[in-house]
Amino acid sequence: MNKPVLSEARKRNRVTEFIEVDPILSNQYDGKKYYIRTYGCQMNVHDSEEMAGILENLGFLPTDSEETADIVILNTCAVRENAHDKVFGFLGRCKHIKEKKNKDLIICLCGCMAQETSVVEEIEKHHKYINLVFGTHNIHELPNYLLNLHEGLNVEVKSSEDNVYEVGENYKRDSKISAWVNIMYGCDKFCTYCIVPYTRGKERSRKSEDIIKEVKKLKELGYKEVTLLGQNVNAYGRDREEEISFAELLTKVAEIGIDRVRFVTSHPWNFTDEMIDVIAKYDNIMPYIHLPLQSGSDRILKLMGRRYTQEEYLNLFDKMKERIPGVAITTDIIVGFPNETDEDFEETLKVVEHCKYDGAFTFIYSPREGTPAAKMEDNIDLKTKEDRLHKLNEIVNKYSNMNNQKYLDKTVPVLITGVSEKDNDKLCGYTDTFKLVNVEGGKRLIGEIVDVKITDAKSFSLDGKVE
Ligand code: 5AD
Ligand code: SF4
Repeated sequence: MNKPVLSEARKRNRVTEFIEVDPILSNQYDGKKYYIRTYGCQMNVHDSEEMAGILENLGFLPTDSEETADIVILNTCAVRENAHDKVFGFLGRCKHIKEKKNKDLIICLCGCMAQETSVVEEIEKHHKYINLVFGTHNIHELPNYLLNLHEGLNVEVKSSEDNVYEVGENYKRDSKISAWVNIMYGCDKFCTYCIVPYTRGKERSRKSEDIIKEVKKLKELGYKEVTLLGQNVNAYGRDREEEISFAELLTKVAEIGIDRVRFVTSHPWNFTDEMIDVIAKYDNIMPYIHLPLQSGSDRILKLMGRRYTQEEYLNLFDKMKERIPGVAITTDIIVGFPNETDEDFEETLKVVEHCKYDGAFTFIYSPREGTPAAKMEDNIDLKTKEDRLHKLNEIVNKYSNMNNQKYLDKTVPVLITGVSEKDNDKLCGYTDTFKLVNVEGGKRLIGEIVDVKITDAKSFSLDGKVE
């Protein structure tokens, strides 16, 4: 048993090593079916693609439901409490299937929740029907765990493993059009509310040469878009003296000539002018930036450990708007951080009124065990927090709708990514500014960048026709 320890997860002084991982092939699970359920961020989505690759190398085939699976993997998120609730709800369903229909069902839990000491303790006490718990640092070990699975609960979580595991093209990617590319792992920012620096470990950049090799390969395979992934991409390279900066990496990736380059997520702190200039210079770097605000109040920003003031954020925001033509900017905002006053909240609204964001993900603060904010006294009741969220959402939606209305009757390039979820007779895709568009058109357009005339604009999507 290897259990996660918070004090170990907090440490940041180890050396990063680069380790090449070769695929492990076996026919032990030939013909068996797997189902992976993913919660949380794009990093998790991409980790699930790695796991799918691993499982197929062991003989598993995909299936689309836990009901028909021989193995279920829950890739979990720990960022907010409601993510926990959803996971335990789904585990209940898996338990039922195992008891009533398929006693051999292998149930695995991995991802950020697996890195939490309290979660593993709860599983040991109350969820012994789970077969395997493994963490974010040892996904590459999954084949070995499955080939040597013991009876009962197996717990294999490393508190930190601070290495970069290079898995090459051992992914089973969900899309043949748009691909995720990790550029770095972990986070060293330690915002006081956030669990990620503990569950994902310290900042570790992949080698730029490996990233470039991967993007070149994706272009050869016909991919139209890559999204560079990191918890905090503008810190790329800062953990290794010999490595290039994020602006230089973006330049090199853009020069490979893939049609569309995106990146998530950027921290407002340390977003350099050079980065802004590179985004503005290359037509294939999409004019879209996700720039989390979290709060507009200087007092709260300080308590959150965000390293910028309202004024600094707004200066950066205005500079981006000025220098990157047509850039769309979205954000994340937390309401109800401990002791957030009405005045603090008003400061957040002030920033939203100024920025008129293209979109925003808004959250009620959720204490995460082990983080500094969880120890702060909080005298704000839930009702007040909910009212604030509601008010914020109204304003956020007003501006996203307003921004979308500007597209009406315009013709814009859209990368068609698949069939629309809402209407199976339609296609869907994204503008360069990352607006979702439901498009009338034939399926042969999937994977193409086409000119679309926008015929209707709502708060969260656009409708259009192929020109
Ligand atoms: N409570 C509420 N929201 C949080 N986020 C991160 N941690 C918390 C928390 N403890 C939000 C932040 C972050 C997004 C991914 O999730 O806004 O940017
Ligand atoms: Fe969490 Fe802050 Fe790191 Fe983002 S930058 S992952 S909010 S600690």
